[in-house]
Amino acid sequence: MSKQDTETGVVAAENLDRVEAPVTWRAYAMCVFASFGGIFFGYDSGYIGGVQGMDYFIKMISGPDATELLSWQSSLIVSILSAGTFCGALIAGDLADYFGRRFTIILGSAVFIVGVALQTASAGLVLLVVGRAVAGLGVGFVSAIIILYMSEIAPKKVRGAIVSGYQFCITIGLLLAACVSYGTENFENSGSYRIPIGLQMLWALILGVGLIFLPESPRYFVKKGKVEEARKALGRVRGQDPNSHHIEAELNEIRANHEYEKRMTPETGYIGSWLLCFSGSVGLASSNVRKTLLGISLQMMQQWTGVNFVFYYSTIFLKGTGAVNNPFLMSLIFTLVNVLSTPLSFWFVERFGRRSMLLWGAIGMTVCEFIVAAVGVTIGFNHTHVVDDVTIANNISAVNVQIAFIAIYISFFATTWGPGAWVLIGEIFPLSIRSRGVALSTASNWFWNFIIGYITPYLVGSQHANMQSSVFFLWGALCAVCIVYAYFLVPETKGLTLEQVDQMLDEVSPRKSAAWKPTTTFASMEEKQTTA
Ligand code: BGC
Repeated sequence: MSKQDTETGVVAAENLDRVEAPVTWRAYAMCVFASFGGIFFGYDSGYIGGVQGMDYFIKMISGPDATELLSWQSSLIVSILSAGTFCGALIAGDLADYFGRRFTIILGSAVFIVGVALQTASAGLVLLVVGRAVAGLGVGFVSAIIILYMSEIAPKKVRGAIVSGYQFCITIGLLLAACVSYGTENFENSGSYRIPIGLQMLWALILGVGLIFLPESPRYFVKKGKVEEARKALGRVRGQDPNSHHIEAELNEIRANHEYEKRMTPETGYIGSWLLCFSGSVGLASSNVRKTLLGISLQMMQQWTGVNFVFYYSTIFLKGTGAVNNPFLMSLIFTLVNVLSTPLSFWFVERFGRRSMLLWGAIGMTVCEFIVAAVGVTIGFNHTHVVDDVTIANNISAVNVQIAFIAIYISFFATTWGPGAWVLIGEIFPLSIRSRGVALSTASNWFWNFIIGYITPYLVGSQHANMQSSVFFLWGALCAVCIVYAYFLVPETKGLTLEQVDQMLDEVSPRKSAAWKPTTTFASMEEKQTTA
């Protein structure tokens, strides 16, 4: 049974389970395909470490006698990508609201291909840097909007698992990049860097062309007031007849939620709509500013776990211990552990929920990092030798313990904070600020990614703070902050539609959110409002 509101045409579903239509396997497959965008992210952050160490590349950039890149060159080459992605992610939110989610991702793939073509063609620093900035813009578009798109089209029961699929693709991208660079690093020609760089065009092509055949997000059409298009798109993402009562009920709930939000938020211009992301009181968990800060800080905390220290610097760190024969192989093993553990999160995220996952993940990572640090300062440095004025631990079994705990740490990250932070930023924002909220959060990921990448050499470099294993005390302490953060600030969004997440954040604090159950639909609230 359902009742129709004469003013808005919205029909209220009386059954709370009817707010989402059933889904076919084909529809699941569509959502899963979109996660392919993660390959960009991972590959792009992963290949540059390998390329920078290539002899041919170093000589091309720094001259025939050079054995390594000058610091400013290396820093420019690495950081220009983050600058591009940061800007790309910010612009992408606007584009996704004006032109659609799908179009923005396709555009991002095209921009990325242009950037990669410039880098592949480059035979010197300038074109390479320009190419990386352009490619970064494309990665920024894709990394922000894929999350938005997937969260909006995925069925609620598996939304967490599907967005975790994106994280899985990031890990595959990182692994592929490491393997390809390893394969070409000894080439004595431009193929050494051109192959790993050029190969990325393939990921962009697959994603861009694939998305041409996928439907637009129905929630985007609702935001644009295009109800019939929304109905057709929803029919496609659920694999149902667009005129079926299931689609009718789900569409009505999305529309009613949007009507409700529109009533709550004043009509504004461009600047005003950005300011909307920061409206309300910081003290109120349901205010826009709190949701925006939550998204931005979630991604910041994800970077603060120190995961990229392991991915960017583990080779150098392990070399420094003097106890590992093939540090490259070891860092490849960490990358492999990352890939192999991530699928567990598909189950964790729906079985235990986002909140418990982040809480337990932070506890596990904290313990592992403190063990690595403690082993380093107690056992590891009992037996040391000095190379080039640097004190090096050569207690092999201590270093092995450290390696084992770094691997366990990675699997904690891969099953919890890695996917969890992405899943949550797709879920916590109301439709009115969702695209910008996700964009700001993604930009925060890239910003902190850059900051950590930039400061780490100063933390561990022998000329600077030379923290060696003790750097893990720092990451451990930051992970301990993640425990407190997850306990007080992260809400449980498992099993709810995006509209129900809105309701839940309005009604309970994050600590009580896991027990929250929806008691009404937006469509029936709208109905009461118009009959009152
Ligand atoms: C993070 C990246 C990290 C990767 C490792 C992602 O979720 O945002 O910074 O390199 O996970 O798998």
